[in-house]
Amino acid sequence: MTIRAGDLRIDYSKQMIDEGGIARLLDLADARDVTSAFARMGKGERINFTEGRAVGHMALRTPRGEHFLIDGVDVVPAVWSVLDQMANLAQAIRLGEFVGSTGQQIRHVVNIGIGGSDLGPAMVYEALRGNRSPDISCRFVSNVDPADLEANLAGLNPAETLFIVASKTFTTVETLANARAAREWLVSQLDEAAVENHFVALSTNAEAVREFGIDTKNMFAFWDWVGGRFSVPSAIGLSVMIAVGPEVFFEFLGGMHMMDIHAFQASGRANAPLMLALINIWNTAALKTSSRAVIPYSFDLRRFPAYLQQLVMESNGKSTRSDGTRVPYATSPVIWGEPGTNGQHAFMQLLHQGTDVVPIDFIGFARSSADDASRNELLFTNLLAQSRALAFGRNIDEIPNSPARSHRVFEGNRPSTTIVAPELSAAVLGQLIALYEHSTFFEGVIWDINSFDQWGVELGKELALTIGSTLADFSTHDHPELDSSTHTLLSWFIEHRQNNIQ
Ligand code: F6P
Repeated sequence: MTIRAGDLRIDYSKQMIDEGGIARLLDLADARDVTSAFARMGKGERINFTEGRAVGHMALRTPRGEHFLIDGVDVVPAVWSVLDQMANLAQAIRLGEFVGSTGQQIRHVVNIGIGGSDLGPAMVYEALRGNRSPDISCRFVSNVDPADLEANLAGLNPAETLFIVASKTFTTVETLANARAAREWLVSQLDEAAVENHFVALSTNAEAVREFGIDTKNMFAFWDWVGGRFSVPSAIGLSVMIAVGPEVFFEFLGGMHMMDIHAFQASGRANAPLMLALINIWNTAALKTSSRAVIPYSFDLRRFPAYLQQLVMESNGKSTRSDGTRVPYATSPVIWGEPGTNGQHAFMQLLHQGTDVVPIDFIGFARSSADDASRNELLFTNLLAQSRALAFGRNIDEIPNSPARSHRVFEGNRPSTTIVAPELSAAVLGQLIALYEHSTFFEGVIWDINSFDQWGVELGKELALTIGSTLADFSTHDHPELDSSTHTLLSWFIEHRQNNIQ
C-alpha cells in the first residue's frame, strides 16, 4: 500500500481499506473509464462541458519543443513565448536592469489577485523560501478589505515597488478595486507616468488591461483553457519567478510535468493520483466522512491547505451530474488544515477522540529548508506519532487504573495517508501540486461532475452588486427586493459605517 511517483512516496496503509475494497475501487475506476477521460484532457478536448472549454493546464508545463494540441493548434510555442517574456522580466529585475521610474532597483513585488490568481503564487512563494533571492520580497494582496492593501503597503517605497495585477478575467471587482487603490498610492507619491514602470498585468483580457491603464506591452498573457485554480504554472506564477529565478521556476514546471506523465502512464494501483482519488471516494462513500484534513509537517508548506481548498472544493463541490441530474451520493468533503506540529496543540484532540472521523493527508520531508537536523527529526517523528496514534489507538487494558482511565482510550482506526519526499525542492512541489490536481480530476470523473466550472460563486457576486446598488438611495426608497434580515443588517451597517464615503 505504498506508491512511488517521482520523488514522492505515498503510503496509504493506514487507510481503512483492504485488498477487497481496493479491487472494487479499481473496478469503479475502470467502469468510469478514467484513463480515456484523462487522455481526452491531454488531447485538448472541451471537457469543461458547461463552459465549452478545453482544460489545458498540462500544456503550461509541457517541455519546449513537445506538443499539446488545443482545437488542433499546438499551444506549446505560445506557452513558451510567455514563459520567455516572464523570464526576461524576472532576470532584468533580479539583475537590477529593470528599474522603477526614478531609476531605483525593484526590491518589492506586490501581487494583487484573488482565488487562483493569489492562492497558487502565494503558496508557492512561501514553499520555495529556500530558493528566494534575499534582495526581493513579494507580498500578496487579495482581500477587498482595505486593511489588506494597507498592511501590505506598510513600509514599502513606491520607487522600489512593482505591482502585478493578476486576474484571468480582469473583471474581478475585488482585484480591480485593490489595483485602483494601489495605483492611487503610487501616483500620489511618484507621478502618473510612473504607472508604466510600476504596473504589469497577468490576464487573458487585453482590452480590460488597456482600459485599466496598463500598456499591453506590460501584459503577460494566458488563455481561457487555463482554470484559475490551475493557473500557477502560467503567467500567474510571475511573482514566484521573480523571487526564485527562471531556472528554479522551470524545475517547478518540470516536477509538474513529471507527475502529468505519471498520471497518464501508470496503470491502476500504480497510479498515485488515481489511488488518492479512489481512497477519498472510499472515505466519503463507505466511511461517510464529510471533511478531510491536509496537514503538512512543514512550515514552508503552511499555505498548502488554503491552496488545496480552492483546488478541490471549487472543482468538486458540485451536485449536478453531466446529464443534469442531481448526484445521489456525496461528492467532495470539506478540505481544511494547518501545519504540524501546530495542529497537535489545537485541533488534533478532536481528530483522535472526537465523534467524527476525519481522514488526513500527512505530508512530510526528510530534510528541512532550515539547517537544523535535530528539530527536523522532532518534526518528522511527531508526524509518525500522530498517524500511528490515529491508526492503532490505545485500548483500556494498556492504561493504568485511574478515574480518568476511560477518557484516555483512543479508539484508533482513524484513516490517514502519508506523503513523503526527501525535501521540498521546486521539482517536488511541482509533483505535489500536480498530484492533487490529477486526483481532483479523477474524483470528478468518477462522480460524473464537471470539475472545471465554478457556477457556485456566481450568485454571491450578483447579489453583492444588487445589494451594493441599494446603498445610494437606501434611506429614501423602499427596497422590497431585500429580505427582512438583509434589510435590517444593511440599515445597521449604514448607521455604523465609516462616514468618509463620497
Ligand atoms: O472565485 C471565483 C473565481 O472565478 C476563481 O475561480 C478565480 O480563481 C478567481 O475568481 C479570480 O478570478 P480572476 O483571476 O479572473 O480575477
